[in-house]
Amino acid sequence: MKEKLQQIKEKAIAAIEQTNGLEMLNDVRMSVLGKTGELTSVLKGMKDVAPEDRPKVGQMVNETREAIEKLLEEKKIKFEQEAMKRRYESEKIDVTMPSTKKEHGNLHPITQVRNQITDIFGSMGFEVYEGTEIETDYYNFTALNTPQDHPARDMQDTFYLSPEFLLRTQTSSGQIHVMENEKPPIKIISPGKVFRSDDDATHSPMFSQMEGLVVDKGITLCDLKGMLDEFVKEVFGQETTTRLRPSYFPFTEPSVEVDVSCFQCHGKGCKLCKGTGWIEVLGAGVVNNKVLEGCGIDTDVYSGFAFGIGIERIAMLKYGINNIKLLFESDLRVLKQLDDEK
Ligand code: PHE
Repeated sequence: MKEKLQQIKEKAIAAIEQTNGLEMLNDVRMSVLGKTGELTSVLKGMKDVAPEDRPKVGQMVNETREAIEKLLEEKKIKFEQEAMKRRYESEKIDVTMPSTKKEHGNLHPITQVRNQITDIFGSMGFEVYEGTEIETDYYNFTALNTPQDHPARDMQDTFYLSPEFLLRTQTSSGQIHVMENEKPPIKIISPGKVFRSDDDATHSPMFSQMEGLVVDKGITLCDLKGMLDEFVKEVFGQETTTRLRPSYFPFTEPSVEVDVSCFQCHGKGCKLCKGTGWIEVLGAGVVNNKVLEGCGIDTDVYSGFAFGIGIERIAMLKYGINNIKLLFESDLRVLKQLDDEK
C-alpha cells in the first residue's frame, strides 16, 4: 500500500510538473482526486484493509492527498499570476503618447460674452426678458420719451420697414414691454440684436446689446453705480472701478456714460484708454418719470434705473480686438483664438 501511494504521488508530481495551464492542471486534479481518480479509488478500497491497519493507512492516504493538493494549489497560483502578468502587459498604455487631437467647435465669442454677462446679472437676481427684433416706432422711440421730431431720434440712424415698423435700434424697447406687463418690483436684463445704419471699424449695422432695468421703491443712481461696480469687477478684474459722466438719453434723467478704469494700464494711461486711464463701456441713468408714468407706474412710490451695454464693445475690449468686423466674418482662425471655454 505504501508503495502504491508513493507511486501515485510521484506520478502526480510529474504530471503537475508537465502542465502548461489551468485547464491541464484541472485534468490532473480530476485524474487523481476526482470521483474516479486514482487516490479516490484507493480510499474506496479502504473497506478491504484490515480494521487494525485502517488508521495508519488512512493517515498515509491523507498525507498523500494533502501533499498533492498543496502542489496543485501552488501551481494554480503560479498560473494565475502568470495570466495576470500577461494581461497587464497586453493592456499596458503609454500615457506619455501624444493623443489624437479632436477638433471641436466653440460658442461664438459674442455668445460667450453674452452668456457671461447674463450669468453675472443672473447671480444678482435679474430675470431675462427677450424682446423682438422688429418693433413698432412706439416701443422703440415714442414710449421711451422720444416722440416724432424729437432731436434724439437723430442719435440712432434707423432702418424703417414701414412708417410704423422698424428694426429696433436699442434693447430699451424691451423696458416698455416689461413695465406694461409687470408690476414693480421689476429686475430684468434683456439681451438681443439691434440695428443701426452705421458702419466703421467699431460699428456694425447689426450688433448686440444687453439692457438692464430695475424698478422698485427707493431706487437711486447709487444703486446703479453699486451694481455696475460689481459687474465690471466680474468682467474686467477685481481692481476695476467705474466713473459716471453726465450724458443724455431721452428716457433717463439724469443720464450717464459709465467708464471703467483701464484694466490694461490701471489708470496710468495707455493706447487702449487713449491716455486717459478710463474706457467708456455703457450708457445708463435713472428712468425718466415720463417713461414710468407712460407705463402706468406711480412715480410717487417707485423709481428705477436702466442701463444698456454694447456686447461687441465688451468683447472687443476683453479680447483686444480693434475691428468689430472680426466678430462677424466667421474666420475660424480668429474665432478659435477667442474661446474662453477652451
Ligand atoms: N439705449 C441706449 C443706447 O442704445 C443705452 C441706454 C440704455 C441708456 C438704458 C440708458 C439706459 O444708446
